[in-house]
Amino acid sequence: MQFDMRALPKASRYKILGSCVTPRPIAWVTSLSAGGVPNAAPYSFFNVLGDAPPTIALGLLAHGEARMKDTANNIRTTGEFVVNLVDEAHGEAMNVTCMDAPPEVDEIACAQLEIAPSVVVAPPRIATAPASFECRVLHAIETGPNQVAVIAEVLYAHVADAFILDAERLYIDSPAMRLLARMHGAGWYSRQTDLFQMERPSWAAWSAARGAG
Ligand SMILES: Cc1cc2nc3c(=O)[nH]c(=O)nc-3n(C[C@H](O)[C@H](O)[C@H](O)COP(=O)(O)O)c2cc1C
Repeated sequence: MQFDMRALPKASRYKILGSCVTPRPIAWVTSLSAGGVPNAAPYSFFNVLGDAPPTIALGLLAHGEARMKDTANNIRTTGEFVVNLVDEAHGEAMNVTCMDAPPEVDEIACAQLEIAPSVVVAPPRIATAPASFECRVLHAIETGPNQVAVIAEVLYAHVADAFILDAERLYIDSPAMRLLARMHGAGWYSRQTDLFQMERPSWAAWSAARGAG
């Protein structure tokens, strides 16, 4: 089946993209309003874009038809936020923070989360997250009405000591983090419990094995 995305309603476009582009990592974004109210919300339109400088991207959709999400407003106003990663233990708390609470409600308190001050940005981080990245906005592009794509530099990283296998070589125990990922609609998620390894081939070994060259 083929779809002309330009002719479809918004909800259908979301279904096609959200169901096919899976699993998606979840950025549990903590930010501050202009008045200093802390906010936390999950965003799975998220990924790493580069390492020089280290960059990440977030996709913040419109809140209904009429306004931006609180996270988008906060990031555009303050230029700073923290991406916290979500493990299985924090799944339910993460879900509480995606309620459609009014802007003045502290969703961090609703989810009974422990927060800690960040080192270089004003918004706090989630103290018990397996990893947190303090970010400053490089570009915030309005890609549609009240829809914002944010590209940000990661200024400071926190990785819980429990997941550091070798501090010198920077071996991090990713499977032990038990991170959640977002799947298709209706609240589906995946765990990282079906892993396999595939070595990247070199041209020399690949062509020698086939008697080429
Ligand atoms: C796992 C998960 C991932 C989500 N990903 C996104 C996303 O990438 N972009 C988005 O606009 N909303 C996303 N949402 C919905 C927002 O979290 C939700 O609208 C939230 O209320 C926004 O909060 P805020 O207004 O405090 O920023 C996601 C929700 C969940 C549960």
